[in-house]
Amino acid sequence: MSACNEASALPITFTPIGWVESEFSGYAPSDEMRQRPSRIVLRPEMAPGLMGLEVERYILVLFNLHRATDYDLRLHPGHNPENPIRGVFATRSQYRPNAIAATVAEIVSVEDNIINVTGLDAQDGSPVLDIKPFRASFDGESQNIPN
Ligand SMILES: C[S@@+](CC[C@H](N)C(=O)[O-])C[C@H]1O[C@@H](n2cnc3c(N)ncnc32)[C@H](O)[C@@H]1O
Repeated sequence: MSACNEASALPITFTPIGWVESEFSGYAPSDEMRQRPSRIVLRPEMAPGLMGLEVERYILVLFNLHRATDYDLRLHPGHNPENPIRGVFATRSQYRPNAIAATVAEIVSVEDNIINVTGLDAQDGSPVLDIKPFRASFDGESQNIPN
């Protein structure tokens, strides 16, 4: 079995399903951003895909770190020189080869094509790639992964 072949090594193109509206349009620490409300505005034609989401409490938001245009394979976590250097895949750094972020956000409300959330650390204008209900059974609990 081979990990990669001609077809699977091709670049992958995603079309955003929507964009984040946030008061942060440049760098801010995640902790600070996650305290503030933000909105995920889906393209109107994606709105039918939100049916049923209003009963969920948390979503996993996959978004593109579109302002992080470069990456480091080795870095100080948190960009703090006091933290020992690690490989990027052992960190949550925004400077990664494929600039994809994954954040669990809390739903405040769902209205038409808009999800109001807290807990999202996406800058204003971040393209949203996917949204899934957060499920402890899929996302950790069943493997007894500690926090
Ligand atoms: C370290 S990343 C972590 C993102 C996500 N929680 C994760 O773990 O995948 C969070 C940082 O990325 C930055 N950020 C958010 N949206 C961005 C974007 N569109 N382009 C570049 N940086 C972004 C934020 O300012 C924040 O400091």
